[in-house]
Amino acid sequence: MYRTHTCGELRISDVSKSVTLAGWVQRARKLGGMTFIDLRDRYGITQLVVGADAPEALVESANSLGREFVIQVKGTVVERQSKNPKMDTGDVEIAVSDINILNKSLTPPFTIEEQSDGGEDIRAKYRYLDLRRAPLKRALELRHRIAHECRNYLDAHGFLEIETPYLIKSTPEGARDFVVPSRMNPGEFYALPQSPQTFKQLLMVAGYDRYMQIVRCFRDEDLRADRQPEFTQIDCEMSFVEQDDVLAMFEGMMRSLFKNVLGVDVPNPLPRMSWYDAMDNYGSDKPDVRFGMLIHEITADAQGHGFGVFDSVPYVGAIAVEGAAGWSRKELDELTEWVKRPQIGAKGLVYIKLNEDGTVKSSIDKFFSPEELQAIAAKVEAKKGDLVLVLCGPKRKTQTQLGVLRLELAGRAGLRDPKVFAPLWIVDFPLLEWSEEDGRFYAMHHPFTAPKPEHLDLFYSDRKEDLERVCANAYDFVLNGNELGGGSIRIHNADVQERMFQVLGIGKEEAEYKFGFIINAFKFGAPPHGGLAFGFDRLCALFGGQETIRDYIAFPKNNQGRDVMIDSPSRIDQVQMDELCLASTVKQ
Ligand code: AMO
Repeated sequence: MYRTHTCGELRISDVSKSVTLAGWVQRARKLGGMTFIDLRDRYGITQLVVGADAPEALVESANSLGREFVIQVKGTVVERQSKNPKMDTGDVEIAVSDINILNKSLTPPFTIEEQSDGGEDIRAKYRYLDLRRAPLKRALELRHRIAHECRNYLDAHGFLEIETPYLIKSTPEGARDFVVPSRMNPGEFYALPQSPQTFKQLLMVAGYDRYMQIVRCFRDEDLRADRQPEFTQIDCEMSFVEQDDVLAMFEGMMRSLFKNVLGVDVPNPLPRMSWYDAMDNYGSDKPDVRFGMLIHEITADAQGHGFGVFDSVPYVGAIAVEGAAGWSRKELDELTEWVKRPQIGAKGLVYIKLNEDGTVKSSIDKFFSPEELQAIAAKVEAKKGDLVLVLCGPKRKTQTQLGVLRLELAGRAGLRDPKVFAPLWIVDFPLLEWSEEDGRFYAMHHPFTAPKPEHLDLFYSDRKEDLERVCANAYDFVLNGNELGGGSIRIHNADVQERMFQVLGIGKEEAEYKFGFIINAFKFGAPPHGGLAFGFDRLCALFGGQETIRDYIAFPKNNQGRDVMIDSPSRIDQVQMDELCLASTVKQ
């Protein structure tokens, strides 16, 4: 037996027990002839002590230990003179009688402690060492706990976990596919699934009316803190359901996760907000509702005063920043530059200060009387001491810019506390999104999302304005300004599906080539069905109080999509290229 206990296990009640521990040397230090060693494993750290009066060979062995050596020790549990209340095992230490060095270690390139001195790149290269650190261990434990709770809940509700293939045909989620060449079918490629969307729908046709899978998905898209090229979904689908059934089922799942994993109670039922309200009031389809600072339209009040900037645009909107009337010229200039950055793209920023003494000061004093400025401020629900910030331009674009500004200012004011959770559903999404650039409609979710039955007439209209008004039976689960999940009731009627492809400009032949298998399957009795998928990595990160998902994935990729530990992607040799009938245009 390598060990009798783990390094996180021993307590004062174990004093005088003979024990054997095994683990990694986190630190060894000499103090007044004694040697103290912190021994670490997955479960914690236990202090070992080799006394000054120990046999010479043992002292020598203790002094030869370097960081990250793997050792096995035998000894007796004793009460510590100076206890460490910060450690679970801090009341005791092991008086060592024997050290067995199981393996030596090179000096690690960074300290493997709660806080490391290593930068991100070096830690990514030696991920297996970084994973020895307690914060990453806690993240992976949390991930395991959440997966386990999900499976428990869904199993209790009759869901079957069914695996779907990874080597498939392009899926319609809207990102680029990762593709895999087929050696046996020269010149042909598999696509890795962006999600199991089509397969879960086929499972519904097959009669497996409650499906779930914790599944890897692959998307070739630009990466951000909350995006990885391969990520994991909690993917679910149900038959014989309407939107309310799906929302109730998965609200239940989230409620049980919040309760069982975090001990947090969330409202029952969860709030629902229409996509239109989310855009109008928060400038985002994933609103952070932990704080107010709502966006207000002030177009009517702002226009007709001779200020050309406002008069020449379709929309003027504003937010009130609490207690910010005292901001200096410099601070406002800095904020103006901030909203003008290309990532946000506003043309400028107008302000109205509501001074504590009841006066107003604004960058548009010339065009508006103090009363008119007060009226605008009242509309934005600003009070004395607040600052009103105004942006203008095309409606949705300006609202989005105000939304980004709102989040930034709330962040600076400390209003985005990761320990406060405000989940909600966003519902009533538009079914279609018009692209000015391409002069065509795109599906806002994916082409299998059903229009609301009451909007079917609009859906069959040929007018762009009508089609823009069609709402989908689609929903997103939003937590603290993050889209955590999304789904829809699907089209199960061949005519409606055909119309969808037509609206999206997907011809009969193309539809047949891309989705023939599912169109065909739907001819054999497709039940009404719907479902959703949660971003599992995002869920774990938010439960852990972070917005970056990388630490919740054991072996993530960096922002260039590289795994710097295994050095991938990498070239393949010519033989393999020839075998796959591939030619490279990149100079080797
Ligand atoms: P959707 O594309 O909205 O829906 O994806 C569902 C959830 O997956 C997460 N997610 C990601 N997480 C990390 N990295 C990424 N690159 C990434 N992309 C998406 C998000 C998102 O809400 N098939 C549909 C679901 C359905 O209709 O049932 C789908 O995939 O949290």
